[in-house]
Amino acid sequence: RIASLTVDPAFSIAPADRRLFGSFVEHMGRCVYGGVYEPGHPTADPLGLRGDVLDLVRELGVSVVRYPGGNFVSGYRWEDGIGPAGDRPRRLDLAWKTIETNQFGLDEFMTWARTAGVEPMMAVNLGTRGVQEALDVLEYTNHPGGTELSDLRRKNGAADPYDVKLWCLGNELDGPWQVGHKTADEYGRLAAETGKAMKLVDPTISLVACGSSNRGMPTFGQWEATVLEHAYEQVDYISAHTYYDPSDGDRASILASAVDMDGFIEDVVATADHVAAKQRHRRKLKVSFDEWNVWYQSRLKADLDRRGWVEAPALIEDDFTAVDAVVVGDLLVTLLRHADRVGVACQAQLANVIGPIRTTNGGPAWRQSIFHPFALTARHAVGTVLRTEPVSPVHETARYGAVDALSTTAVYDEESGNLSVFAVNRSDEDLVVEIGLRALPGIAGVAHVTLDAGADPDAVNTPDAPDRVSPRELEKPAVDGGIARVRVPGASWNLLRFA
Ligand code: AHR
Repeated sequence: RIASLTVDPAFSIAPADRRLFGSFVEHMGRCVYGGVYEPGHPTADPLGLRGDVLDLVRELGVSVVRYPGGNFVSGYRWEDGIGPAGDRPRRLDLAWKTIETNQFGLDEFMTWARTAGVEPMMAVNLGTRGVQEALDVLEYTNHPGGTELSDLRRKNGAADPYDVKLWCLGNELDGPWQVGHKTADEYGRLAAETGKAMKLVDPTISLVACGSSNRGMPTFGQWEATVLEHAYEQVDYISAHTYYDPSDGDRASILASAVDMDGFIEDVVATADHVAAKQRHRRKLKVSFDEWNVWYQSRLKADLDRRGWVEAPALIEDDFTAVDAVVVGDLLVTLLRHADRVGVACQAQLANVIGPIRTTNGGPAWRQSIFHPFALTARHAVGTVLRTEPVSPVHETARYGAVDALSTTAVYDEESGNLSVFAVNRSDEDLVVEIGLRALPGIAGVAHVTLDAGADPDAVNTPDAPDRVSPRELEKPAVDGGIARVRVPGASWNLLRFA
């Protein structure tokens, strides 16, 4: 079976923004406690930041990290997490039925972000709180000094403002599960007023309004329209969240998950542009896809129901398979293909909680299968994203109907002459992919790296076999007469490098 695509630098979409390779640290399960932070761990620094996890975060190539939630932020008092550790209160976290010790808070996160070399992205609580608390945390974080809260930050050890540029106005407030859930009108008004006031404190920040928690929400579409009718003027991004659940074992459908993400992005962009047209805005909003991943969601309720109130329980620590890694690679392809309208994307979450990085308390950290396509894409998607217009065989799926077997994007760096083609084969059969390169005379194949789920689709990485699912090198692509012909295995994610 043959598929084809064309790479031509004339067909550019947008620069491959580093912010598309974001992640998410929530006070949930063992993402913070036992994940990024574990005082006493053999690799921890004096603050308790795990060195082995920091090394993996750097290798992963994460650019921006959203914090502190998620559902957690909708009941969070940010000031509980600052000041002397011994004075910080223990609180009930209603989102995850957990005792929050507050030993890790805003200042620890900022230190962690600086050490990891990532950009912090903060969320404010618009569930149980409102305009004033959002202004307070912004003053503490970004105001240089000479006011009560900025001087408190200085007293707590941070002389310079953290200068956080990206702020989320709450989290998933369309969801009935959210503490402080709101109607679209209630949330839209609150987002507009909070955003307006926050930009008075610091006009250099960018704001993200909550879009829908997922595309299947009954209010999807109408929620975005109503929220933006109130808040378009004040915000820069509208968020999208999605998780794809492989629990039913329908391999063809899960491998086609990116088809849904693609339509989701197009729906949100269309809705935002509709409001822009009605209100005569020339400035176009971007999508902040600030939660996305594979997640075996059906397991969560049982986890929560089974237990009482405890500190940092193991929550949704899914073992990702080789197939899940192919799906994650394809979701990244989709985000890149929309680089003109998606400005931020955060895989959820970073460590343990459906994360690419797993740890045991006191023990090792290892790379899950999904780590690899993320790390390789973040490293090699440098330059301008190009439109590739693949022509592909199609196959039927139960969830999405007929889908293309081949999904592709290409990123070209004019300065270095490096070209990376990302190609996903969503079908079970091998494909011969013909890549038209006539617009880049003299370009030659450098490498073909594949993460191939065909032979052992359910394989996972464990502390005993941490590299069982890893990428492998195939023969480098040969270019003949301006065309590279490459065999891509069934159910695989591929990076084809040319220079
Ligand atoms: O990432 C896990 C949870 O999923 C987040 O807290 C929430 O925003 C989403 O529903």
